Amino acid sequence: MSYFIIILLAICSHISGAQESKQICPLKGSQFPAPSGLGSENLFRNATGKIEQSIRASLTAAPYNETTFSIGMFSTMDDELLYEFHHTDPTVATSEIGTNEVDADSIYRIASITKILTVYQWLIADGDRKFNSPISDFIPQLLQYENGQDDYPAPRWDEITVNDLAMFLAGIDGLNDVAIPGYVTSSLPAMAAAVLPNNPANGINVPESDDPVCGYFTPNVTYVPCSREAYIEKIANLASSFEPSYTPSYSNANFAILGLALENILGAPIQDIFNKTVAKPLGLRSTTIGNPLQITNDSVIPGGGMTASGWDNALGPLNSAAGAFSTTNDLAAIGRSILNSTLMTQAITRRWFSTTTFVDTIDQAVGRGWEIFRVRINGHSIDIFTKSGNWGVYNSVLFLIPAYNFGFSILSASSAAGGALVNDLPNTIVNTLLPSLETITKQQANANFAGRYTSDTTNSSITVTTDGSIGLRVTEYVASGVDLLGSVFALFGADVEFRLMPNQLYSGGTRVGFSAVYQPPTTIPPEDEFYWPCESWLDVDDFTYASVPLGLMAFDVNADGNATSVRLVALRETLLRK
Ligand SMILES: *[C@@H]1O[C@H](CO)[C@@H](O)[C@H](O)[C@H]1NC(C)=O
Ligand SMILES: *[C@@H]1O[C@H](CO)[C@@H](O)[C@H](O)[C@H]1NC(C)=O
Ligand SMILES: *[C@@H]1O[C@H](CO)[C@@H](O)[C@H](O)[C@H]1NC(C)=O
Ligand SMILES: *[C@@H]1O[C@H](CO)[C@@H](O)[C@H](O)[C@H]1NC(C)=O
Ligand SMILES: *[C@@H]1O[C@H](CO)[C@@H](O)[C@H](O)[C@H]1NC(C)=O
Ligand SMILES: *[C@@H]1O[C@H](CO)[C@@H](O)[C@H](O)[C@H]1NC(C)=O
Ligand SMILES: *[C@@H]1O[C@H](CO)[C@@H](O)[C@H](O)[C@H]1NC(C)=O
Ligand SMILES: *[C@@H]1O[C@H](CO)[C@@H](O)[C@H](O)[C@H]1NC(C)=O
Repeated sequence: MSYFIIILLAICSHISGAQESKQICPLKGSQFPAPSGLGSENLFRNATGKIEQSIRASLTAAPYNETTFSIGMFSTMDDELLYEFHHTDPTVATSEIGTNEVDADSIYRIASITKILTVYQWLIADGDRKFNSPISDFIPQLLQYENGQDDYPAPRWDEITVNDLAMFLAGIDGLNDVAIPGYVTSSLPAMAAAVLPNNPANGINVPESDDPVCGYFTPNVTYVPCSREAYIEKIANLASSFEPSYTPSYSNANFAILGLALENILGAPIQDIFNKTVAKPLGLRSTTIGNPLQITNDSVIPGGGMTASGWDNALGPLNSAAGAFSTTNDLAAIGRSILNSTLMTQAITRRWFSTTTFVDTIDQAVGRGWEIFRVRINGHSIDIFTKSGNWGVYNSVLFLIPAYNFGFSILSASSAAGGALVNDLPNTIVNTLLPSLETITKQQANANFAGRYTSDTTNSSITVTTDGSIGLRVTEYVASGVDLLGSVFALFGADVEFRLMPNQLYSGGTRVGFSAVYQPPTTIPPEDEFYWPCESWLDVDDFTYASVPLGLMAFDVNADGNATSVRLVALRETLLRK
C-alpha cells in the first residue's frame, strides 16, 4: 500500500506543475442517473423544435421530398412517444394499396433491424449461457453437410460460436452470388452480365453444383427463398472470408443461422417465438418476423409496387436477418423494454450492451447485432447503440442511448432516393439532441442531489454539487469531525477531486446508488502521445472502511426522485439533506 501511494504522489507532483488543460478521467458508463420527464423539459422541446425546423426546411428538396418517413423518440420513463414526425411523399400519398398518409402505426419493412429482434428473442427465451457454445451444437447438419472439399476454406462450424454469429464475427456472409444470372448481374456492364453467370459455355470452369439453389433475386426482383434444409446445406459449404472471432464482417447469414438454431432449441417457428417472447408481452400490434399476412391501411407501399418496393419479398430462413416489419410505436415499445430490462434480467441486458468488439475506426464498435458509435460530450463518452436496415426501397435505423434511457427510430421508404435520408438525419438528430440530453441530465441531477447533508447527532457531513466536469462532485466529506478529503483522499494529491457516478446497485427502489472516482485532474497529452495512465478504472474503491468502499453512497429519494438523505454506506451513517 505505501509503495502504491508513493507512486501516486510521484505522478501527482509530476502533473501538478503543468499549466495545460486538465481533466478528470471518467469511468465508462452514465455520469448521472438517466433523466425523466423529457417531454416537459424546455431544452428537449427546443431541440426537437430545431430538428423539425431543419427537416421542414429540407422537405422541398431531395432526398426529403421523395422519401416517406417516420421519426419517433422515446424514453423508458414515458409510455407515449416523446416526439414524432411523419412525412408522406407523392409515391405513397397516391399509392393504390396501403396507407396514403403515414403515422406512428404505419408499417414499414425494417429489414436488418430484425437482427436486434433475433438476438433479443434469444436472450429472453434462453438467456446467454449458450453464447460460447459452437453453433454446430444446435444445428448438427452444418457439420454433416460440410463436404470437406479443399478448393476453398469452408467455415469451421465447430469453432464458430453463437456469440461469433451475433457479433458479426463468424467470417461468412454470401448474399449476392454473381454466378446466378438475374437481378444482381443485370446491373453489371453488359459483358460481365453475359459472361459471369456460371455456364460451361461461358468458359469459366466452376462446378454448377456449387451454385446457390435459392437465396437470390430473379430478374424481376423476386427473391427466391430457401427451404430450411436447402439453406443449411448451402451455407455449410459457403466459403469463409475470415476465421471466426477475428474481425467484424457484416453478415445476414449469421442471423439466419441464429434463427434456425433458436428454432431448434425451442422447437418452434421463429414467428411463434417472437409472438411469445416479445409481441404478446409488449402488446405489439404490427410487428411480424416475415411478411404480414395481409396488406392493411397501415402498410407503406410506394407506388403500389408490392414487388418493386421489396414489400412482398419472402425471405425464408433470412427472415431472422432481415424479414421483420414494424411501426414507429412498436419499435418504441421494443426499445423501451430493452433499455428497461422489462423482459429479461438486468444482468443480461448489461451483458448485451457491454459485449462488443473494436472495429478499425476508433469511435466505432460492434456488439451482438449492434452497430455502436461513441460520441464525446463534456469530457466523457456516450455509447450509442444502433442498427440500420435496408431492403428494397425501405431504409431504417434504430438508436438506443442507455446513458439517457432514450432512443429513437427513423423508418423510411423511397424508390427515388434510397437510404439518403436515413444516412443524413441521424447526424442532425444526435448533434442537436445530445447536448440537450446531457444538460437536462446534469440539471436534474443537480436539483435532485446537490446540497449539504448533515447529521443531528454526529459531526459528519457531505456537500454535493455539479460543475463543468463529470458526475456529482463531493466538495466536503467529513466523518465524525475528520475531513476525509483533506486526509485520506488527499493521499492522491492536494487537488484531488471526489466525484460520484451512478453504480446501478440500488436500481428499481427508492435509493439511488453512487460509487466514487477520486483523483486529481490530469494534463491532457499532445495528440501524438497515446500512453496516458489516465485509467480511472485502475483506481476504483482504493479505500474501504470495514469492508465497504468509502466512496459508496446511496441517496434516498422521494417519488419525484428528489433526495431527502444520503446513506454513507461505509460509515454506516445516514445524513439528512438540508
Ligand atoms: C430555444 O433556443 C433558442 C436559441 O438558443 C432560445 O432563444 C430559446 O429561448 C430557446 N427556447 C427554449 C424554450 O428554451
Ligand atoms: C425533389 O426535389 C428535387 C430537387 O432537389 C427535384 O429534382 C425532384 O423533382 C423533387 N421530387 C419530387 C417528387 O418532388
Ligand atoms: C420498466 O420495468 C419495470 C419493472 O422493472 C416495470 O414496472 C415498468 O413498467 C417498465 N417500464 C417500461 C417502460 O417498460
Ligand atoms: C418473377 O420471376 C420468377 C422466375 O424468374 C417467376 O416465377 C415469378 O412468377 C415472377 N414474378 C413476377 C411477379 O413476375
Ligand atoms: C403472431 O401474432 C400476430 C398478431 O397477434 C398474429 O397475426 C400471427 O398469426 C401470430 N403468428 C404466429 C406464428 O403465431
Ligand atoms: C381502408 O381505407 C379505406 C378507404 O379509406 C376504407 O374504405 C376501408 O374500410 C379501410 N380498411 C380498413 C381495413 O380499415
Ligand atoms: C462535534 O464537534 C464539536 C466541535 O469540534 C464538538 O464540540 C462536539 O463534541 C462534536 N460532537 C460530536 C457528537 O462528536
Ligand atoms: C428537492 O429537495 C430540495 C431539498 O429538500 C428542495 O430544496 C427542492 O425544492 C426539491 N426540489 C423539487 C423539484 O421538489
